[in-house]
Amino acid sequence: MEKIKIEICVGTTCFVMGASSIQALEFEIPEDLIGKIEVTESRCMEFCKDHKDGHHKGPFVKINGEVMADATYDKVLDKVRAIIKKKEEN
Ligand code: FES
Repeated sequence: MEKIKIEICVGTTCFVMGASSIQALEFEIPEDLIGKIEVTESRCMEFCKDHKDGHHKGPFVKINGEVMADATYDKVLDKVRAIIKKKEEN
């Protein structure tokens, strides 16, 4: 199965709003996700500057290219597990 790509914005705004807690994924991958995810960091993705479409609430994380606003460690894991479950069902 192709790895799920998780890109964590660690720009200043996102970092201050909690991206640091999501970075834990880089150092300790939950057992059920070992070998299934690829975690990287990104500089400011510019979403924090875009106030028009409600995208301004960080921290932002991209999961397989899909943007998650207001991300938390648990929300990211829930989303990743949902993607894996869906893939396994197909
Ligand atoms: S700091 Fe994360 S989108 Fe700007």
